[in-house]
Amino acid sequence: MGALTASWQRLHDHRDANRDFSLRRAFSDDPSRADDFTVRAGALTIDYSKQLVDQQALTLLLELAARSGLSARTEAMFTGERVNTTEDRSALHVALRAGTDGRFEIAGKDVMVDVARVLQQMREFAQQVRTRTRLGATGRPIRNVVNIGIGGSHLGPDMAVEALRQFVNPDLTVRFVSNVDGADLADAISDLDPAETLFIVASKTFTTAETLTNAQSARRWVTDALGEDATPHHFVAVSTNVQEVENFGIDSANVFEFWDWVGGRLSLPSSIGLALMVAIGPESFDDLLSGFRDIDEHFRTAPPDKNAPILLGLIGIWNINVLGYTAKAVIPYSHRLSKLPAYLQQLDMESNGKSVDVDGNRVGMDTAPVVWGTPGTNGQHAYFQLLHQGTSVVPIDLIGFVKPSHDLPGHHDQLMANMFAQAEALAFGRTEDEVRAAGVSEHQVPHRTFSGNRPTTSVLAPELNPRTLGQIIALYEHTVFVQGTVWRINSFDQWGVELGKQLAGEIVGQFGDEALGDHDGSTSALIGEYLKGRTR
Ligand code: F6P
Repeated sequence: MGALTASWQRLHDHRDANRDFSLRRAFSDDPSRADDFTVRAGALTIDYSKQLVDQQALTLLLELAARSGLSARTEAMFTGERVNTTEDRSALHVALRAGTDGRFEIAGKDVMVDVARVLQQMREFAQQVRTRTRLGATGRPIRNVVNIGIGGSHLGPDMAVEALRQFVNPDLTVRFVSNVDGADLADAISDLDPAETLFIVASKTFTTAETLTNAQSARRWVTDALGEDATPHHFVAVSTNVQEVENFGIDSANVFEFWDWVGGRLSLPSSIGLALMVAIGPESFDDLLSGFRDIDEHFRTAPPDKNAPILLGLIGIWNINVLGYTAKAVIPYSHRLSKLPAYLQQLDMESNGKSVDVDGNRVGMDTAPVVWGTPGTNGQHAYFQLLHQGTSVVPIDLIGFVKPSHDLPGHHDQLMANMFAQAEALAFGRTEDEVRAAGVSEHQVPHRTFSGNRPTTSVLAPELNPRTLGQIIALYEHTVFVQGTVWRINSFDQWGVELGKQLAGEIVGQFGDEALGDHDGSTSALIGEYLKGRTR
């Protein structure tokens, strides 16, 4: 038996020998469990003591990570090796937030010069907009910035602008358009004046149909109002594909570059964060980068048993592959983090939603969890019923902050009390005897009993600010990387999105034709019905 197979076997044996593991017992047997199973990274306190693991499970998981070559692959990523083998690229997003002292190279070429140059270009642009010296075609200052992009070119900056609303310049309107559904763009611009509006067209490839369609409509909206010559004054682009940007009609001087070694879902700290930098200002953006860097350094240097992304990644492996819990909820106890779950969906599911390993062989086990979530306390009044008493067990990450991001009295204590209470209820439940002892009538007892043993990790930070946001994002990025490494998959490609894109392109091309293409009966019938209705 190979060393890896033996590690997996030991994990399964350990689970089988401890089928009756109970968080109630684990805490009563070990008074220091909360302390021992809490790790600190940057300003984050991460309590995983309410996960269904004991010390032996963690030891076996750490052995699995070591045997999976985690430290070598981590170094390979940090040293610019082409870890994204199917696209033959490095995944050096850590260089983007390395700061002035950072030294990162790809094949002997220092990438930090380019990183610093683009950051400086972003700062100058952001300052122009923020100080009203960036003018539109008619000489009026730009007051509205609309980011057009999708996926990794949208979710990060949109999530972060919302998260950091407290830091956003109140004199600016910053919006995001992603969906090819024209309602998205129409709504975003309905109350804006083209003379004061600038579009950031954000697309790594500059070939994404949704983004180009929205960008073309935005350009029409601008030129209809201000004339053909207005485009250069009202459009800038963020892309790795300068040629395509120029073909679109945006001058190369208005392109904020990034590079193929930055994955879309890892690109927030690159020029993809331009709309965010405009909104919160260059200094706050630097703080965000510092937050990323805090966790990058922690991940690269902390010993595995004190390393937050390693521990969280491995606990995820335990939940998915050993306990069979293949979903995961992320519940931020922060209204401002309402877009974090959607951001993490792309990060986790586009990275690790794969069935074959780096060699093209079947992985042979479950990989990325189905990630979902909405802010607490809202979810509590919707789907938490299932989380407490349903037949599926869904591990949950709860994220909260010591200080509120507003000054309304009374709210924050309630919010945080709910976060702590949910984790407690999920872990320890309520036994039949306890329910009876509370005087509940016998026929209600089964309905009001809670099994407990529902795993959570609680992440607590002092406050939601650019630095802690950067730390939270980097924590998840590296957690996903750890899991991809253990599963031996390439977390940096996304071939699974291609087929749907290709078919959509073919179908839209057929809408004008007499004869539809060769489709199955269902698809043909649906298209037929659509076309009949459309021409009516
Ligand atoms: O379709 C998936 C995807 O390629 C993502 O990986 C990416 O973040 C998104 O589309 C947008 O791509 P682009 O930035 O090239 O427009």
